Amino acid sequence: MGKDVRPQAHGSFFETLESLVLSEGMIEKCRGIRELNTRWSNFDDLDHNSPVNFIKVAGLPTRLQLVPPGKLKRRGIKSQEARNILMHSIAHIEFSAINLAMDACYRFRNLPKQYYQDWLNVAADEARHFELINAYLNLHNCNYGDYPVHNGLWDMAAETAHDPIARMALVPRVLEARGLDVTPPMIARFDSVGDNSAVEILNVIYQDEIGHVYIGSKWFRHLCDQANVEPRQMFMKMVSQYFHGELRGPFNVAARLQAGFDREELEELG
Ligand SMILES: [Fe+2]
Ligand SMILES: [Fe+2]
Repeated sequence: MGKDVRPQAHGSFFETLESLVLSEGMIEKCRGIRELNTRWSNFDDLDHNSPVNFIKVAGLPTRLQLVPPGKLKRRGIKSQEARNILMHSIAHIEFSAINLAMDACYRFRNLPKQYYQDWLNVAADEARHFELINAYLNLHNCNYGDYPVHNGLWDMAAETAHDPIARMALVPRVLEARGLDVTPPMIARFDSVGDNSAVEILNVIYQDEIGHVYIGSKWFRHLCDQANVEPRQMFMKMVSQYFHGELRGPFNVAARLQAGFDREELEELG
């Protein structure tokens, strides 16, 4: 069992966010973000001057076994166990995505109120995505934590914790955008073996993720405007500085255009 880090009902906005990022419990984290999302509009003034602590590792269920990315085996799709393994890896992506969206809210201060609303909404979406996948796993006698996972998503959050421009570039516009490329073929694979419930869940996630990347694009451009830098050049600079390895296509051009990329940018990316 994780330690009890449930947010106090009356904690300040940023304190509550920090405790939710650190929370290890699945139920606490998902319920906590929903509660905060409904009560946050009651905060007249956000406590922008409260401390911002570096979070080296976000809260995850303690039974989860973390391994380096290369150690995870490629999986098939035909057996239920193979599908569980695949869905388990997506459960971990969604759980990490709750932490990432809340951390984007917690860490970066003095931004317009809409910034916080947008990322709270994303965090609540990610909690819903996690719950959908978790319910699928439970139905197939599997639990989050049954298989090893890697923590590459949070590692990128930690690397970009000092700079909101780097965070918006790398997390929504590189990592989440990658999800837009790989999800449709994955849906087709689940469809090919008649796993309709997985297809349904992944379709919901896919549609929502276009919106998340769009929010990332919107705030990335806003921050570039504020800093008086040209967004396309800045994006390429951020990618080469923080992304280790090549950005791999093929890109889902239609979804990426909807998500706030422009054609020239996609051409430049490869
Ligand atoms: Fe998601
Ligand atoms: Fe997302």
